[in-house]
Amino acid sequence: MKKFNLFLLMTLTALAGCQPKPGTEDLIRLHNSGIAAAFSSYGARLVQLEVAGKDRQPVNIVWGFDSADSYKRAAKDPYYGAIIGRYGNRIAKAQFTLDGNIYHLNANDHRNSLHGGKDGFNSKTWDIVAKSDSSVTFSYTSPDGEGGYPGKLAVKVTYTLSSDRSLHIVYEAKTDKPTVINLTNHAYWNLNGPGSGDILKHKLTIYAARYLPVDSTLIPLGKAAPVMGTPFDFNRPTAIGARINIANEQLKSGKGYDHNYVLDAHDKQMPVAEVTGDRSGISMQVYTDQPGLQFYSGNFMAGNNVMNGGHGDNFRNGFCLETQHFPDSPNEPAFPSPVLRPGETYRTTTVYRFTAGR
Ligand code: GAL
Repeated sequence: MKKFNLFLLMTLTALAGCQPKPGTEDLIRLHNSGIAAAFSSYGARLVQLEVAGKDRQPVNIVWGFDSADSYKRAAKDPYYGAIIGRYGNRIAKAQFTLDGNIYHLNANDHRNSLHGGKDGFNSKTWDIVAKSDSSVTFSYTSPDGEGGYPGKLAVKVTYTLSSDRSLHIVYEAKTDKPTVINLTNHAYWNLNGPGSGDILKHKLTIYAARYLPVDSTLIPLGKAAPVMGTPFDFNRPTAIGARINIANEQLKSGKGYDHNYVLDAHDKQMPVAEVTGDRSGISMQVYTDQPGLQFYSGNFMAGNNVMNGGHGDNFRNGFCLETQHFPDSPNEPAFPSPVLRPGETYRTTTVYRFTAGR
């Protein structure tokens, strides 16, 4: 497996005082003990994340490009590593009603609005407002009416690498009019390393007794259903691919897993999900205060892009665990509310913690 060695590159660049590789100028590099990562201000994206694999060598475990230009040129940008906003996931018929007003959004996925519409936060160039060796804060102010959403929304996202090999993501926002908000990060993980093939043998656990069944356009049907006895039950470590191809209406609608789980506990004390790469032995635990987790098994990856390390982004070669509000919550009064009002602060945290390969 060809690895892009971030540790080595940083050391060599520092020692030789040499220029960064062409195309890598705009990356922001962070490190802490046993973990290193790179970010782009284009979409406030996580571009690379390295932890040690079985042989103690660093392995990059996220799909990314090494420059903002490559993201801009990407075929149908699949949101690699980006911050998604204003509303991660789908809003049915690209509209919602708040305080009696109807808001019309950009419909970019069938009749629905996906990930903030066609010019979501993933396609904005964010400002860097703070930076240290292990942390960076990006900010973006979305004008009133952008994408059809009400209110001027000031957003900050802070990524921090901590010494227990974790990536912390803190999302904050304030609005000047009532609005809806659902921020998430869209990293595609492959814990064996991009270029190592599909993720179907990764073992996944999701601590959730229920998930949200969807229609053919991936909008929740409204009611959560038990996972017990279905291919959606990941309460015990199970290979992602073990049941992905069995005949099941729900799996067909998502062309694999593309569903939101109703998390049993989301108080940041207990992991909501855990995954282990079968080849690298690297494990990832996810902690969050959000009510939902979108498990997406890379079903729309189609080998359209050659990414870092020279690897094609082939079918199901990455998976996403996006912590978030439930899809279409602005239209589902029974779901936890995604409404943000003036004077309130939206603040949520998600942590991805890694264990080196064994
Ligand atoms: C996921 C979503 C998928 C797909 C993907 C981007 O978050 O659940 O349905 O849209 O983003 O290709």
